[in-house]
Amino acid sequence: MAAEAKPATVSPAKSAETHPAAAATPASVPLTRREFLNYAWLASLGFVLVVGFGGATYFFSFPRFKAGEFGGVFALGKAGDVLPKPDDPPIHNQEGKFWLTNVNGAIIALYDVCVHLGCLYDWQTVSGRFECPCHGSKYTKDGTYIEGPAPRSLDRMVIQFVAGNQPVATTDAKGDALAIPSDTSVELVVNTGKIIEGAPHG
Ligand code: FES
Repeated sequence: MAAEAKPATVSPAKSAETHPAAAATPASVPLTRREFLNYAWLASLGFVLVVGFGGATYFFSFPRFKAGEFGGVFALGKAGDVLPKPDDPPIHNQEGKFWLTNVNGAIIALYDVCVHLGCLYDWQTVSGRFECPCHGSKYTKDGTYIEGPAPRSLDRMVIQFVAGNQPVATTDAKGDALAIPSDTSVELVVNTGKIIEGAPHG
């Protein structure tokens, strides 16, 4: 009687030699509790950073102040309708905290806070100048320092004349008075968020 053929047995070492790909596959090692907690902590930190950075970017991508509130832009209307004439007294805009003043046909927007200690000064028709009730600082119609404890002339805001959403004239970096365009149908815009310090005296 013929002997039954037995299947050949291959030892694990022999098998690995025969199939290199199998030998290269690493055995999976379970994470320790410490490793798991480290990965979880890193993932949480990454999430917080992404959300925080994204939130800050979103927040700062919008203007901080709305149009028509102090710190934002005030669109006042057609220059011919809203500007004081050269001999008119300055016009106070309480919401925007500025005085519009016409000096020889050019316009300035003066921040209405005294540069000494922050009181609200006022226009005095009799003397034809701005006077602060707190400590007596006085300024000319264009905000230039005359006398008193104030360290400088009044601060100014940036103004623009705008036609069809395009600026046609803008206050320069020194805050010089802005000449009124011949076409007074342009719109006057005051940017109360852009304040230019007055010049020091003495
Ligand atoms: S706060 Fe105006 S003079 Fe002092």
